[in-house]
Amino acid sequence: MQADVERIRERLEGVLIEHRDFGQVLAQFDGADSCFFLDPPYVETTGYAVPFGMDDHERLRDLLRTVKGKWLLSYGDHPWVRDNYKPWRVHEVTGMSFVSAKANTPMPHLLITNYRLTKAQLAAAPREVVPA
Ligand SMILES: C[S@@+](CC[C@H](N)C(=O)[O-])C[C@H]1O[C@@H](n2cnc3c(N)ncnc32)[C@H](O)[C@@H]1O
Repeated sequence: MQADVERIRERLEGVLIEHRDFGQVLAQFDGADSCFFLDPPYVETTGYAVPFGMDDHERLRDLLRTVKGKWLLSYGDHPWVRDNYKPWRVHEVTGMSFVSAKANTPMPHLLITNYRLTKAQLAAAPREVVPA
């Protein structure tokens, strides 16, 4: 237990944890050298602590158009996501999420990037379904 706490302490050294709207975080930290991992609420899925409507999904999509750095976005597989993220690289991956683990059923996910994954990264997991 003590060793676990120590490992976590070391891993979190220098880490800044923000609890703010994604728009504020993207605006503050975006730059040519930034790299964002985004895991928003899934489309048409409720049960998160705060509401996240289609207006928020659209706001996120519009903001990602403007981001200068790299980003990797994780979403549940949904027609709206496939349709709206066509301009970027969309990869299919099946795995357990917090939501699907409750039902003990792997759930198809999409990993979307605004940059090309390396051959090794592609071999390790997802299949690119919508090459940009
Ligand atoms: C799919 S969950 C991601 C869970 C997290 N990645 C994890 O592994 O625990 C979506 C998360 O987005 C958060 N969220 C909701 N509205 C948000 C907003 N406007 N800005 C940033 N995060 C938001 C939710 O509170 C929730 O924790």
